[in-house]
Amino acid sequence: MGEFVTLTYQGESFELPVIVGSEGEKAIDISKLRSETGLITLDPGYANTGACQSSITFMDGEKGILRYRGIPVEELAQHSTFKETAYLLINGRLPNTAELRHFSIMLNDHSLIHEDMKAFYQNFPTASHPMGILSAMVNALRSFYPELETSEEETNIMVTRLLAKIRTMAAMSYKISRGHTVVYPRPDLAYCENFLNMMFDTPVKPYRLKKEVIRALQVFWILHADHEQNCSTSAVRVVGSGRVNFYAAISAGIAALWGPLHGGANQAVVDMLTAIHNDGGNFRKAINRAKDKNDPFRLMGFGHRVYKTYDPRAKIMKKICDQLLDSLDKHDPLLDIARELEAVALEDPYFIDYNLYPNIDFYSGIVLRAIGIPTSMFTVMFAIGRLPGWIAQWKESMDDPNWRICRPRQIYIGPNINHYIPIEKRE
Ligand code: ACO
Repeated sequence: MGEFVTLTYQGESFELPVIVGSEGEKAIDISKLRSETGLITLDPGYANTGACQSSITFMDGEKGILRYRGIPVEELAQHSTFKETAYLLINGRLPNTAELRHFSIMLNDHSLIHEDMKAFYQNFPTASHPMGILSAMVNALRSFYPELETSEEETNIMVTRLLAKIRTMAAMSYKISRGHTVVYPRPDLAYCENFLNMMFDTPVKPYRLKKEVIRALQVFWILHADHEQNCSTSAVRVVGSGRVNFYAAISAGIAALWGPLHGGANQAVVDMLTAIHNDGGNFRKAINRAKDKNDPFRLMGFGHRVYKTYDPRAKIMKKICDQLLDSLDKHDPLLDIARELEAVALEDPYFIDYNLYPNIDFYSGIVLRAIGIPTSMFTVMFAIGRLPGWIAQWKESMDDPNWRICRPRQIYIGPNINHYIPIEKRE
């Protein structure tokens, strides 16, 4: 017999079942609340709302735990590749050798982009943000691949197609924005290597792949691959719940990720650190502004809705950042500022009281800079990394036997009935 919560309202008692997850976290099942009591719940920002039951990612914000399909992200960052992690998230388990080989072949076979799409890139205004372009282009894929996906095999082809093409699309967008020759994917290069080559190879200066850079990119993408019901993933699920096509649902996720409070924070962190650097390195001013309740400024890369301790991804990212700069023998003054800022913030009562610790975005921008990714492309890098998670969550929601269109309610606080007045009688 499971647990129940008793709700007493207007002298009547209602029993609400308690749902227990596999890691012991509990939720009150309110699915019959309105029909039985006439009440709804009100939860701005959904901070106390479980929108689904999911078996993809587990995170414990108090303990700083993150696992994909049960495997700690630390182990994946150390031993796995982004491709293998993507397979794990999408298919629910690690692949065997034959499955991984087949997945690689599919990723290679689907990596080209319809040549007509290239023309689209040329027509965006040069100042367009790459996230807007990516969202539009992923949505446009539906026009190029309009077939209906009805079997499991067709769905697998569709999701692999997007995984394969997204890196080509991102790199192509960058090359065209610079007026450079587009570099096509190569069958002899693996997923991350191919992306780096498409971004940085030129006819006059061949790109030299470095193992430290490849490893940093693998880890960057592994750490971004899923994060349960965050803003963009929720967008994918909500938009997908209307049974829109797959590309439109992912395009919605990309649009949601763009915001500076979400995926756009990696760009915002580097902008903030650059502004501090240009101001003579005065990071204390930024700390004081972040604490001032009359100033909307926030310390970018700090704080998280779920983590109330150090983001486990930020710990790994910080290590990768140090290793990468060392191996490339690079010095980045922004890293010095970031370290000082972190040290001071972690000792400051404001940040301690609000449980504000560095999140993944605090060090990820410095890693991307070292790889050579332009700041405007940072959030695109996040989007490529998050794609396996969006796909896994979209697939899970499509197969959910309890699926319903997402349609929250509200508490109306507008005027009461208020009759129409013809224009000649209005004051
Ligand atoms: N700097 C200063 N104060 C902060 C910060 C910050 N970075 N983050 C939160 N606070 C304060 C808020 O001012 C608020 O104070 P108040 O209660 O006195 O008004 C309190 O902490 C709670 O903040 P909320 O915005 O209610 O917390 P929420 O959980 O909704 O937001 C968020 C989390 C959006 C990540 C927030 O911490 C933030 O804006 N951080 C900076 C942006 C950022 O780094 N985003 C990346 C997140 S990770 C990701 O998406 C990959």
